[in-house]
Amino acid sequence: MLKIRFVAPSDAKGALAALAFEDSDLSPAAKALDEACGNALTRAMEGGRFTGKAGQSMELLAPTGLSASRILLLGGGKAKELKRDGLERAAAGAVKSVLLTGEKELTLRLEGLQIDADDAAFAGLAATMAAYRFDAYRTKLKAERKPSLETLYIALDDPDAAEKVWDKIKHVAKGVRLARDLVNEPANIIYPESFAERVKGLEDHGLTVEILGEKEMEKLGMNALLCVGRGSRRESKLAVMRWDGGKDGEKPICFVGKGVCFDTGGISLKPGAGMEDMKGDMGGAAAVTGAMRAIAGRKAKVNAVGVIGLVENMPDGDATRPGDIVVSANGQTIEVLNTDAEGRLVLSDALWYAQKNFDPKFVIDLATLTGAMIIALGNEQAGVFTNSDGLWDQLKSASEAGSEAVWRMPLGAAYDKLIDSDNADMKNIGGRGAGSITAAQFLKRFIDEGRDWAHIDIAGVGMKSSRDDPREPVWGTGWGVRLLDRLAAACED
Ligand code: BES
Ligand code: MN
Ligand code: ZN
Repeated sequence: MLKIRFVAPSDAKGALAALAFEDSDLSPAAKALDEACGNALTRAMEGGRFTGKAGQSMELLAPTGLSASRILLLGGGKAKELKRDGLERAAAGAVKSVLLTGEKELTLRLEGLQIDADDAAFAGLAATMAAYRFDAYRTKLKAERKPSLETLYIALDDPDAAEKVWDKIKHVAKGVRLARDLVNEPANIIYPESFAERVKGLEDHGLTVEILGEKEMEKLGMNALLCVGRGSRRESKLAVMRWDGGKDGEKPICFVGKGVCFDTGGISLKPGAGMEDMKGDMGGAAAVTGAMRAIAGRKAKVNAVGVIGLVENMPDGDATRPGDIVVSANGQTIEVLNTDAEGRLVLSDALWYAQKNFDPKFVIDLATLTGAMIIALGNEQAGVFTNSDGLWDQLKSASEAGSEAVWRMPLGAAYDKLIDSDNADMKNIGGRGAGSITAAQFLKRFIDEGRDWAHIDIAGVGMKSSRDDPREPVWGTGWGVRLLDRLAAACED
């Protein structure tokens, strides 16, 4: 992982980066650099189209008067509107643009901008996200195509305060990286058992981990989850992670994740084109795992539980058939009309397990649940379905703090009716319309009366980002780690 260090401006090393603003002027650091190199920055700006708009950047190589090999001027947008998200984007953009240049060190000079320690630490987080690569299987990658940047120094007036926050936030960076790796790994490497093993490995960070296999789940009657994995040679698993950093006896907050390690659709087989993307159908489980890693790593003063349902959805002689009726762990009957609507089956029993065993303050599930979510919101925002205005407010704040955008979607009796079945309590698909909402209504039928719950459909944001965001990698985004981590942070004592 890219090393992040917070330093005083006088300790800047390597290539240098500073902000310029659209409405005002160069930042104090950029001004100092401009003066040191005989106003070469100002001249370059005048000769080009760099105006300081957010997202812009301009590079000056081998500036006379300075020992640095390059200066990077970053657009900060309007000075007064510079918020955490903008700062993160600037840091991420700086890293992206020097990552492969041969530079080993870069200093982002932010002194004189009154940036608080939290925002500075989050800029560090964004920088590590921008440096992320999934190169594990590229054996023929040429040396000059490999990242050269090893350390980002962030220069501040009070570096010690930021370093202290970073000591916590670096664990969020590691959580995001873990989630991305889990999503990017192919399904022959990450399957229910190997995923569960990686979760077990998190005990090193102080999490308590329990893994249930098919026998244990059969005893509990978790047939909705189990029916999805019937066609697979891989054994289905339920992984339960606990972090007890809060007060004794205080109800935990709870995260549940869809972990379909590969989704062929089952007997309702998906078309071949693009099916490889379904190795990422465990993005919800990956986000929950990454968030629990972050929460444990920074020793959050909160009780938190993560429950992930791990299965592989395959067609086979023993697979669940369309029309089969299964009984969920809480005794509801489900007519499986489409075996490709499997995520809700996995989540229903996982949600039951979480509520029954932990009686959580609230439960939030994350899932790459429906293609319809991508139709509705594209790759920009995740859809949130919740029975609680209070929980929505909490999610909205966490979304801002963690720079992961969410949009509230509706629930209602009229949508719920669409999943009534003639042959059982419910069917696992609605009609043609409102596909993401009927999926959410299905989940809601497994939420205890009075329990605060939110479902976040991350089908559009979990993978294959088309977003113009320097923090995002090519594929697995690790979406949800920052949101859940900030939500947990807001729940700390
Ligand atoms: N995993 C898919 C949803 C998905 C699609 C996620 C594309 C990410 C990208 C889910 O299991 C699924 O197949 N949903 C079906 C539901 C339908 C059969 C009611 C869908 O969205 O088509
Ligand atoms: Mn499916
Ligand atoms: Zn799926």
